Amino acid sequence: MADGTSIESSLNETRVFQPSRDFAGRARVGSLEAYEALYARSMDDPDGFWTEVASELEWFEPWSRVMEGDAPWVKWFVGAKTNLSYNCLDRHLTTWRKNRAALIWEGEPGDVRVFTYQMLHREVCRFANVLTTLGLEAGDRATIYLGMIPELPIAMLACARIGVTHNVVFGGFSADALRDRINDSRSRVVITADGGRRRGAVVPLKKNADEAMTDTPSVEHVIVVRRTGEDVSMRSGRDLWLHELYRDASDRCEAAALDAEHPSFMLYTSGTTGKPKGVVHSTGGYMVGAYATARWVFDLQDEDTYWCAADCGWVTGHTYIVYGPLLNGTTCMMYEGAPNHPGPDRLWSIIEKYRVTILYTAPTAIRSFIKWGDQWPEKHDLSSLRLLGTVGEPINPEAWMWYHTRIGGGRCPIVDTWWQTETGSIMISPLPGATPTKPGSGTRPLPGIVPDIVDKDGRSLPDNQGGFLVVRRPWPSMMRTIYGDPERYERQYWNEIPGVYFTGDGARRDEDGYYWIMGRIDDVINVSGHRIGTMEVESALVSHANVAEAAAVGVEHDVKGQAVVAFVTPKGASAPGPELTDALRDHVAKMIGAFAKPEQIRFTDALPKTRSGKIMRRLLRDLASGRETVGDTTTLEDYSVLAALRESEEG
Ligand code: WTA
Repeated sequence: MADGTSIESSLNETRVFQPSRDFAGRARVGSLEAYEALYARSMDDPDGFWTEVASELEWFEPWSRVMEGDAPWVKWFVGAKTNLSYNCLDRHLTTWRKNRAALIWEGEPGDVRVFTYQMLHREVCRFANVLTTLGLEAGDRATIYLGMIPELPIAMLACARIGVTHNVVFGGFSADALRDRINDSRSRVVITADGGRRRGAVVPLKKNADEAMTDTPSVEHVIVVRRTGEDVSMRSGRDLWLHELYRDASDRCEAAALDAEHPSFMLYTSGTTGKPKGVVHSTGGYMVGAYATARWVFDLQDEDTYWCAADCGWVTGHTYIVYGPLLNGTTCMMYEGAPNHPGPDRLWSIIEKYRVTILYTAPTAIRSFIKWGDQWPEKHDLSSLRLLGTVGEPINPEAWMWYHTRIGGGRCPIVDTWWQTETGSIMISPLPGATPTKPGSGTRPLPGIVPDIVDKDGRSLPDNQGGFLVVRRPWPSMMRTIYGDPERYERQYWNEIPGVYFTGDGARRDEDGYYWIMGRIDDVINVSGHRIGTMEVESALVSHANVAEAAAVGVEHDVKGQAVVAFVTPKGASAPGPELTDALRDHVAKMIGAFAKPEQIRFTDALPKTRSGKIMRRLLRDLASGRETVGDTTTLEDYSVLAALRESEEG
């Protein structure tokens, strides 16, 4: 746990926005009383409550118990059999939704592909048959390394259809990061493309994958989607073009009856120490969480064109581009490229063109839009929008107000949704027709969720006192384990404060029961909504030949939310300076991905450490953000180190 220091909360936001009568009148949950009744029912009779929600979906065999076991080892919908892909697709084919657009996709160059539910079903079946032909079976793992093209959700749904646990790796990750994730997941198959389109250029996905696969003994086959038409090398026997495999693939494929606890997917995320961990999610509980939260929070209606502008490489893309909306039979917009290509109004032009009604994006994107200027959204008719959402980091009230007025025209509620890769689905969020919102607050917990603010001994704290955000009861979509490391799962999430789920976030609760997230309290940096462990950046830096030791910290950043600042002790005779700085930034990009590049590198002879040898990141954080050293420094090994650091040369 972070050094146990109390968390000061300085934000004091007093504006309150009521849901409009118009919105509330048509909403699924249309009043605060209705939300409170739903919440109360989920507390008084959790089994009855979840049974009701789960029964809106299809199960091949019923459960004997809704929940069983003690945290952290709980099972949901015990003994039931179902299939995520079936519930996302087949379930709609006997209804009018058969011919509803499931996916409207626009490529960065402007090409468009539309899939109705029927068409998407057909593609998913073909892809699933391809996987089966290659020998994949339920329980195997497949790594997916693609850009934002329709084949990405198709591959995910195909895996889910036959019980292959998918492991999506964000297309912005480097070859090294990809290799680690393929190896840790022991994937038999890698699904990639010749290239991806991003900001007018080509991301060499296949080339990166080839570099990653110089040392990935588990990989038997590579399925390659043709997207950019690049020349790529295809290793015979291992690498296969999807369009060739499709030739013999039938478009019929029965959905496997999978146990509710079957691992549907894993997704790597950064934690306090050590390497990224593969967060494992279930089938039944995850499905119920994704379905219900998408319905409540986004108030999905038959007329909606819903757009989550995240990437499928992160959990937001899993639950709110693919599974949640499709389980609800929604029409989803999907866009391949950069938000500022060819101009800074690309998002707004897409909203206007397809009459998008719901937009879900991240504070870091909103801050970029603000920086690019109001003239861009003003050029477009955004009147189709009725609801806005944010996720990934705390949203500053100014950005919230800009989003509300400039994008939402003052008429759209904003749902600020707090959750994590580990929670599987949204935990704290307004319901747009019910909850009065306060800019910067995720407001109140969703039904079934029991958050609390506690001190380091697990005692609940009074209103408005900052502390650790925890969750007191298990919920259906919670992670089930860390792949290959159950002990770490127990230790990091459930033993920090015995018996409760430890989120790693600091927060306070106000007098109205509203939650205000204050950010991470562990050594995780949230850069543009991407979680990076300080450890990962440090490991990347010290793997460079000229680095002896390194410490990475996060500092506030106007657009990215947080940026990485690295303190580096060069090795031997290597000269600190701009050249080494550039080399190290490139090295981090190569090892992890460009998004993890340190904003600043500062060279120092030594790092401040406690007597037990722990790097005192708190001091470095203060130094990096230009604050004076605060708090207790008596555990410093060498006071002169701190003085030297203050004068440290900036690279
Ligand atoms: C942060 C993304 C404040 C938080 C879904 C959390 C937020 C981490 C919010 C999870 C929000 C996410 N307000 N902070 N609305 N949403 N966070 O795993 O620190 O990529 O622990 O999941 O992002 O990031 P992850």
